[in-house]
Amino acid sequence: MPFYKIAETLYSIDFQENDLCSFIVNDKEIVLAKKDNQLFACAAICPHASFPMKDGYISSKGFIVCPKHDYQFSLLHGRCMNVEDYKLKIYKTEKRDDGWYVEI
Ligand code: FES
Repeated sequence: MPFYKIAETLYSIDFQENDLCSFIVNDKEIVLAKKDNQLFACAAICPHASFPMKDGYISSKGFIVCPKHDYQFSLLHGRCMNVEDYKLKIYKTEKRDDGWYVEI
């Protein structure tokens, strides 16, 4: 899958106060998450009951938490920490010399 450049720096991305934001890449909506100066990317919709992940938050343990039923998902591999059957799609991100890229 190809990588798409999405920003020069993390500061040029319009994150909400919860360090999440919706972002369109190659006509696909994804969610970007900022944690410890790292960029993560995941599916826009929760795999449980399709709520928008951009309205969730990042927990102190580094999980992205869905706003509807508080299920927690790993930002590294998307595994749900509450119910094994659910997995959030995670997109690979990469910091290069000229900015941040995501593989879609
Ligand atoms: S819709 Fe996300 S946890 Fe239920």
